[in-house]
Amino acid sequence: MSIVDLAALGESFTRDPYSVYARLRAQGPVHRIRMPEGGAEAWLVVGYEAGRAALADSRLTKDWSKASPSLPLGAVSSGPHMLRADPPDHTRLRKLVARQFTARRVEELAPRIQKTTDALLDRMLAAPDGRADLVEALSFPLPISVICELLGVPDLDRDSFRRWSNDALGATDPEERKAAATSMARYLAELLEDKRRRPGDDLMSALIHGSDEDGDKLSPEELLGMAWLLLVAGHETTVNLISNGVLALLTHPEQLAALRADASLIDAAVEEMLRYDGPVETPTYRFTTDPVTIGDTAIPGGGELVLVALADANRDPARFASPDRFDISRDARGHVAFGHGIHYCLGAPLARLEARIAVRTLLERCADLALDIHPAAITWRPGMMIRGPRSLPVRFTR
Ligand code: HEM
Repeated sequence: MSIVDLAALGESFTRDPYSVYARLRAQGPVHRIRMPEGGAEAWLVVGYEAGRAALADSRLTKDWSKASPSLPLGAVSSGPHMLRADPPDHTRLRKLVARQFTARRVEELAPRIQKTTDALLDRMLAAPDGRADLVEALSFPLPISVICELLGVPDLDRDSFRRWSNDALGATDPEERKAAATSMARYLAELLEDKRRRPGDDLMSALIHGSDEDGDKLSPEELLGMAWLLLVAGHETTVNLISNGVLALLTHPEQLAALRADASLIDAAVEEMLRYDGPVETPTYRFTTDPVTIGDTAIPGGGELVLVALADANRDPARFASPDRFDISRDARGHVAFGHGIHYCLGAPLARLEARIAVRTLLERCADLALDIHPAAITWRPGMMIRGPRSLPVRFTR
C-alpha cells in the first residue's frame, strides 16, 4: 500500500484535516500514512463504522512496551495510566478512579465553574478596547482551574504545566516531548508528596489515601500516572471544546441566533460542537501485536501504530446527514468525540458541564460577540491529536 504523506501537507492539513480525511475515506477505511509528528509511519482508520470498531478492537493494544522500536514515540507521560493499559490492568485502574470520580463530585463543581466563568468574563469584558483572545481569557483558564479544584492543587504552576503539557503532546520533536514529560514528572512527584502530607477533601487525596473494598490502591507510580492523565486531560481538551464551539457559533450566525433565542438548546449545541469540530482529532495510540485485518487491509503485527480519525468518524455521511453542516438542531448523539469502548472518556460529564456553563454565560454577557480575525487566518495547534486554535481573537461592546 502506498504511503500518504500527511507531514508534507504542512499547515493546510493542520487548518483543514477534514477534507483530507474525507478524500481518504472515499478510497477505503484504512490507510498507511506519515504523520506530521516526527514523521512516524502509522495506519489511519477513517469513517464511522470502521473507526468505532477499531476503538473497541481488543486485538489492538495500548501498552507502549509493545510498540515497534522503530517508532519515534518519545516518552509523553509521567507514569503508568489508563490510556496505556489493557485489561486487566486497565480495568483495575479505571475502577479505582471511577469510584472517586463520581457524578456527585462533578455536580458539586457546578457553582464553582459558574463563579470562575463569571470572574473570567468580568476581566475579559473590562478590556478598554473591547477586544480579547478568547483562549487566554476563558477557554484555557476555566478548565485548568476546574481540574485543579477537583484534584485539590490550587497552587499549580500553570504556566510551566501548560508548556510541558503542550510540548509532551504536541511537540513534533520526540526529544522535546521526552524532556517536557520528565520535567512534569518531577514537578508532579513533589505535588503528590505535598498532598500526602496535607490531605484535603479532594480527588487526589481520595486516590492517595483511599482503597477499594478489596483493599486495593494505587501505587506511587500509578498515582503519578493518574495525576498526569487527569491534569493533561483537563488541560488539553475542554479548552478546545470551548474555543472550537464558540468559533463554530460565530461563523454560523443563524445557529448563534437560534441558540440566543432558545437557551434550552445548549445541551444539543454542545453535542453538535463535539461532533462538528471536537478537541480530539485522533485519540491516544494503539498498536498491533499479531497481524490484524481491518476492512480489507492486512496490518502487520509487531507494534505497528494504528490511529483512529475521530474527526472523520464524526463527519461520515453514512452516519450523520450533511455532516459538514454545523446544525445545533440535529441529533448529534452517537458521535465519538469522547471515544468508544472501555477507554470512553471518564471526564465527559465534567467537560459537558463546563462547556454548557461557559458558552451560555458568554452569550448572556456578550450580546454582540464577534470574531476579530478572518477564520482563514486562524492558526491551529500542530499535530494530529489535539484540534484547536492557538488563539481566538474576539470583539464586543463593553
Ligand atoms: C471536551 C473535552 C474532552 C474530550 C473531547 C475528551 C476525549 C477523550 C477521548 C477521545 C478519550 C479516549 C481516548 C482513546 O480511546 O484513545 C478520553 C479518555 C479519557 N479522558 Fe477525556 N476528554 C475530554 C475531557 C476530559 C476531562 C475534563 C477529563 C478529566 C477530568 C478527562 C479524562 C479522561 C480519562 C481519564 C480518559 C481515559 C479513560 C480510560 O482509558 O479508561 N477527559 N477522553
